[in-house]
Amino acid sequence: AFEVKIASSGQLVRVAPQQTVVQALAEAGLQVLTSCEQGVCGTCITRVLEGECDHRDMYFTDEEKARHDQFTPCCSRARSPVLVLDL
Ligand code: FES
Repeated sequence: AFEVKIASSGQLVRVAPQQTVVQALAEAGLQVLTSCEQGVCGTCITRVLEGECDHRDMYFTDEEKARHDQFTPCCSRARSPVLVLDL
């Protein structure tokens, strides 16, 4: 498990292993628009301010993934204990 931090409120949301970031955010009352939920369409793209992403999408290029400044929360996860999201 890891946590995502909502930059605007400071709220920490725990993401359980069997849960996506989008699902964890929804439980915390934060809606992220999704469409494919498989890392293909880019609808859910969210800016990442801090932390290291575990990219599992097919949308970004390797170069974009290496920047760790945006990710697809419908399927991607975190490699660091916390990801700070620009939400
Ligand atoms: Fe399509 Fe996340 S909803 S990439």
